[in-house]
Amino acid sequence: MTTPTISVPFDVYRFRPGKDPSPRYQRYTVDVAPHTPVLTALLKIRAEVDPSLSLRYSCRSAICGSCAMQINSKSRLACETHIGPEFERHGRVVVEPMRNQPVLRDLVVDQSPFWKEYDKIEPHLKLDPRRPMPEGQATKMTPAEVERFKETPRCIACAACYSACPAVEADPGFPGPMALSKLYRFVVDPRDTAHQDRLLRIQPNGLWLCLRCHLCTEACPKDVRPSERIRDLKEMAIAVQGGTELGSRHAVGF
Ligand code: FES
Repeated sequence: MTTPTISVPFDVYRFRPGKDPSPRYQRYTVDVAPHTPVLTALLKIRAEVDPSLSLRYSCRSAICGSCAMQINSKSRLACETHIGPEFERHGRVVVEPMRNQPVLRDLVVDQSPFWKEYDKIEPHLKLDPRRPMPEGQATKMTPAEVERFKETPRCIACAACYSACPAVEADPGFPGPMALSKLYRFVVDPRDTAHQDRLLRIQPNGLWLCLRCHLCTEACPKDVRPSERIRDLKEMAIAVQGGTELGSRHAVGF
């Protein structure tokens, strides 16, 4: 038995900075089965209709994080977003590049700002050089200690959270949900010796710019729940430093 197909209009963002005067939306109509992922339809468009369409992808299995884009105004992985529900809800599929990162071409963005913020949190363990751990014990933690950051290793760095974040849009100096989730992972790691320093350094231009809108948690395809990790960091920052920042004073006041 063959699967019934639906005829779906796609409005795809097209732009070549430096060549096109402004972005435009190009309509393609694709006949596909409802369970088809958006990525598959885009690749079909590129293979059969318009080879000039640029997009980024790799695994096609929601593992590599390369195919994140805006689908009907939500930051999603194109390889795991099925067309049927999108078409049913919106009557079309609008595909745009991720937000908060400059467009290189069509659906491909320059992820440098996202990775720059990640680098800034120094995403590596800082062990105490005066107390080297005995051979073979450097990675030992109790199950309860590991449990405290069980969500963050699920992150595939797709930048969907960064794209969805209005605080990044308002202030590009805000580290963004992914970087702060990774920071949380090191702050609660009992082997790391820079907990307090990390919390003090991130506060002024980082932590308190988060609006608690939870759009990052809604966008995250791996249920890392970045907004909850940021909330935990805020509570830890207040425990360390009290209400000394504008944001923490406000939180303590409430
Ligand atoms: S192509 Fe790898 S996550 Fe979508």
